Amino acid sequence: MSSKTFKLAALAGDGIGPEVMREAIKVLRAVEKRFSLQFDITEAPVGWAGIDAAGKALPDTTLELCRKSDSILFGSVGLPDRDPTIPKEERPERAALLRLRKEFSLFANLRPVKLYKQLAHACPLSLERQGNGIDVLVVRELTGGMYFGQPKKTEQVSPGVMRAIDTMVYTTPEIERIAHVAFKAAQLRRKKVTSIDKANVLENGVLWRDVVTTVSKHYPDVALEHMFVDNGAMQLMLKPTQFDVMLCENMFGDILSDEAAALAGSLGMLPSASLGATNGNQTFGFYEPAGGTAPDIAGKNLANPIAQILSVALMLRYSFGLNDAANAIDDAVTKAIASGLRTGDIYSAADATAKKVGTREMGDAIAAGV
Ligand code: IPM
Ligand code: MG
Repeated sequence: MSSKTFKLAALAGDGIGPEVMREAIKVLRAVEKRFSLQFDITEAPVGWAGIDAAGKALPDTTLELCRKSDSILFGSVGLPDRDPTIPKEERPERAALLRLRKEFSLFANLRPVKLYKQLAHACPLSLERQGNGIDVLVVRELTGGMYFGQPKKTEQVSPGVMRAIDTMVYTTPEIERIAHVAFKAAQLRRKKVTSIDKANVLENGVLWRDVVTTVSKHYPDVALEHMFVDNGAMQLMLKPTQFDVMLCENMFGDILSDEAAALAGSLGMLPSASLGATNGNQTFGFYEPAGGTAPDIAGKNLANPIAQILSVALMLRYSFGLNDAANAIDDAVTKAIASGLRTGDIYSAADATAKKVGTREMGDAIAAGV
């Protein structure tokens, strides 16, 4: 039990963001009661909601709130069909999401991919390939590589010919710090790190491989293997059970984490944590579902709130060290799934025990189960 009040910024954003955020806060309030905790939750607009409310994707007041908070619970931003005239630098993906990652130095992105055994039918792989269960942690570097490298621009080289440049750049310390995160995470799991690179083609890949190998010497209890990214993509489909922790640079991690997500049956099941440096015993973190805004189903009570709810569990665990409360949320999600409740994305008529429910009903069941 703790008497500390944890101060949270809740930025629901666009599309399904507000609906799934509502369920996550419901669960957080249930945990607060059950474990006698105190959460001071302030909601603020971001994304197109920020543009509508204050003229920019990350309004100053929202950023200020984030600075004063212990952690950020984030929904999702970006609506591809909205106003194509807004310059790309001001659109929510870059101006809010990437900006926040950089602003708070959230270099470590953890994306746990776990296939619940009751959802085996929702996984695109055969039961045989699912083995004894798929449980992979993608550790993605989040503030470097091609996303942020300079120069980054589009220029005209001759009449009618444009040239676009993105720069992939990593320094030793950037690779070291994310490698430490991966090895430490592996120590708490099945003690294996697969480091992903493209060392056969990219300078970045060669440096990545060297630095990760050096860092691995600090973790003799963890097995390290290196894998080219193309092979990694294939191996995820062929034999995902071989992976424990996959350590990836920013772009490779973006791609492989979506691929891995498919194995869990739905993007709607996957939470994520983006962490900065640890300060004392508290780590500032940014917690969001791995999926996007899903505009096609927004506002219809169809979205799966589990990714957002599991993101709350990650926040309690990684930022606040509230392991019992985090476990209670994980268990409540498992119970809801075991009891047959399914949002549309994880529903299969072939499963006789499955009962299709909406966003709200799923949230209610999980809140009642903590
Ligand atoms: C993710 C998303 C983002 C990324 C987009 C929305 C900018 O795909 O978090 O994986 O590419 O990092
Ligand atoms: Mg992505």
